[in-house]
Amino acid sequence: MCCCRPTTEHVPVPRRFARPGDAVPGLVGTVGHNDLVKNDDRAPDTAAARKARGAFFTPPQITRYLADWAIRSSADAVLEPSAGDAAFLVAATERLRELGAEAPALDGVEIHPASAATARRRVAQAGGKARIRTADFFDITPEPGYTAVLGNPPYIRYQEFRGKQRAQSRRAALHAGVTLSALASSWAAFTVHAALFLRPGGRMALVLPAELLSVNYAAAVRKFLFDRFASVELVMFDEQVFPGAEADVVLLLADGFGAGPSGHAVIHRARNAESLTSELVQRHWSPVDPSDKWVSGLIGSRAVDELQTLHDGGRFSTLEHWGDTTLGMVTGNNGFFALSPARVSELGLRSADLLTLSPPGSGHLRGLTLSPGQLASLGADGKSVHLFRPTGRLSAAAQRYVEAGHAAGVHLAYKCRVRTPWYLVPLVAPADLLLTCMNADTPRLVTNRAGAHHLNSVHGVYLRSEFATLGRDLLPLAALNSVTLLHAEMVGRAYGGGVLKIEPREADRWLVPSPELIAERADELRAVRRTVAALLGKGRLLDAVDAVDDALALNADLESVQAARHSLASRRAVRSRRAR
Ligand SMILES: C[S@@+](CC[C@H](N)C(=O)[O-])C[C@H]1O[C@@H](n2cnc3c(N)ncnc32)[C@H](O)[C@@H]1O
Repeated sequence: MCCCRPTTEHVPVPRRFARPGDAVPGLVGTVGHNDLVKNDDRAPDTAAARKARGAFFTPPQITRYLADWAIRSSADAVLEPSAGDAAFLVAATERLRELGAEAPALDGVEIHPASAATARRRVAQAGGKARIRTADFFDITPEPGYTAVLGNPPYIRYQEFRGKQRAQSRRAALHAGVTLSALASSWAAFTVHAALFLRPGGRMALVLPAELLSVNYAAAVRKFLFDRFASVELVMFDEQVFPGAEADVVLLLADGFGAGPSGHAVIHRARNAESLTSELVQRHWSPVDPSDKWVSGLIGSRAVDELQTLHDGGRFSTLEHWGDTTLGMVTGNNGFFALSPARVSELGLRSADLLTLSPPGSGHLRGLTLSPGQLASLGADGKSVHLFRPTGRLSAAAQRYVEAGHAAGVHLAYKCRVRTPWYLVPLVAPADLLLTCMNADTPRLVTNRAGAHHLNSVHGVYLRSEFATLGRDLLPLAALNSVTLLHAEMVGRAYGGGVLKIEPREADRWLVPSPELIAERADELRAVRRTVAALLGKGRLLDAVDAVDDALALNADLESVQAARHSLASRRAVRSRRAR
């Protein structure tokens, strides 16, 4: 899987090979009007050139594993829709020859002429014949002619995946009944379009970005796979298998096209590409809703059942049940707008020019509260606990500061430019609770006793009035339990560096103890509050969690919950170590 940008530059005199609307010989499907890419066998495709266009080709252990799985007879008809240098087609040729085919013919599509030329050569060297069409895959109308579709689709983020190509890809997906949002990366439509080239009962084996499992825009693809295939298997890796690429990958092995829906998925877990064998650890998993995130497939049914039971029994509820979670303020330039007490005195600003602020970042939000006293000591340490937000007429000092900002070009920052006057940051009311969005260990809820405003490095949680008193008092404490920690790993997203990020929409679905459970266990929770705060102060999160688990007296299989959380959290950590 890679972030390949299709390249069509340096195209010499065209050698036409098909007319729009023609059936393509050797390739099931027809070529459309616009995207017959000219063939260029002469341009060399060096490693440097591939790197320059962001192409990372699939390692042989993976192509072999997928080819062995997908190709089961010497008569199988094989298509590679983004053939690149034929990493898959070479593996497929070898597999077909092992199965008895003498000189197997395989089909491929590749938009980049030089790669297509290399692919033909490499397949010939491997003893096969590659009928590679140099074309945009989305421009080929699918016909169900293949037993096996294999490959590693291009991964072009929506920001770069624009214009006609994106429109065409979305149309192709729509053809399969899949509506993709404008945020979808190219692989999503590629996956859906590729499936339509399968005969009934056919198999599709693809390398896909791991975001297939979790991102919201991939929900339609997840549902499509479950609906259309009789069986869906995934291989997930503990380590990064494309060290050069930014994203993690999963292998998709979908069998029995047209014979869905598949009631469950089989998840295999491998350490890395070298450890791919046919005897990987397996886990069966039946999603309640196939379009939901698939990460629960990673952790085993015991832990998922526990979560479900606690939710259904009313012991846990979503954070949305408690209140609304929203994004914090965007200043446009924190260096200008967020000020330390020392800087405030230096500038001579008055209290009418300032608001109380939870300083940028969230390192200071690792306890249970943000109190006025804590804010004062953060300020004494030089942290920016004031927001420059003058009210009424500007004081002389505020006027000078605004002019200095103007002279320094602060007003030109996008967020400043689009508001009038540029120096008045749009306010977001102080929240009841602050929720950290980027987390090395787990997202933290913190009671905002200081009534501080917050920036977009944290989210604000605004509790419903009926839960406000209880929630401010005990929800941050009660949320430090094993179940909530596990669910954070499931609703959040693993980011570079092993960070767990949680967005407001994800926080809405996050399972925390319900108001009823907290009210019932309030005395026990209060009794452990000091101990928990002290443990957090020493960085002993998991000991604090044990104390809260005891206080909540959860009648649950906490061991599987903790093991599942450990498994997901260490996956994040292993990846970040490997990425360094
Ligand atoms: C991730 S690379 C994979 C190459 C090869 N399948 C492998 O695994 O080594 C994706 C390939 O898709 C090609 N590609 C990008 N957009 C395409 C499109 N719309 N139609 C056909 N090929 C495309 C790129 O040029 C690149 O060679």
